[in-house]
Amino acid sequence: MVREEMLTTMASRTIIRMMGLLAFVPLFACGKAGAETAAQFDNAQRMKFPADYRKWVFLSSGHGMSYSPAAAAATEPPFDNVFVDPVSYEMFLRTGRWREGTVLVLEIRGGQSRGSINKQGAFQAGQPIAVEVHVKNSRRFRGGWAFFSFDRAKPAEKIATTAECYSCHQQNAVVDTTFVQFYPTLLPIAQQNGAFRRIALR
Ligand code: HEC
Repeated sequence: MVREEMLTTMASRTIIRMMGLLAFVPLFACGKAGAETAAQFDNAQRMKFPADYRKWVFLSSGHGMSYSPAAAAATEPPFDNVFVDPVSYEMFLRTGRWREGTVLVLEIRGGQSRGSINKQGAFQAGQPIAVEVHVKNSRRFRGGWAFFSFDRAKPAEKIATTAECYSCHQQNAVVDTTFVQFYPTLLPIAQQNGAFRRIALR
């Protein structure tokens, strides 16, 4: 081989190798970000609104659940929808536990019985009445978990640990302060694992 040809071959091999490496970089970066947490915080330690939570995994809906007095009193009871970030969901399916970085969202929407062709029952309507979040991050929060309540898309302060949110979830939720007893696809997985707290479900 002439010297020039050799140089060209070496150069093209180097380019091919570099392209191969570059192809891995974005994959690695995404995987890493996903493995960390779906929760983002600003410099003032406020949580940023998880804008894409509607694309996460849907766990369940409650309709007029009476654990909240406001919901019990309403004539048209609201719905709540629970979502979890997809990476934490996958981990839960495998382990029955919530990983560090788990983000769960409770979205409350108005219920309506009259509208269009509907004669009975109720459907969800309008913008969310509230969006509340439960985040697991043991390095950031004492006790491991923190609650946030969002005012539309504005960043939210952590709800103080003296709030009722923490005591009700600690006393009544069956998996690591989360209400898995109401999330039907996760309950059997948790029950087969040690993470499940045996308290009366009926
Ligand atoms: C009296 C008990 C009680 C109180 C107080 C309470 N919750 Fe909950 N929470 C529940 C129940 C029950 C569910 C399950 C909802 C469902 O099945 O749809 C739930 C679910 C949630 C979820 C979904 C993830 C999870 O942990 O299961 C979030 C987020 C949440 N609550 C936030 C809050 C916040 C924020 C507060 C305080 C402002 C609060 N909760 C106060 C009973 C409570």
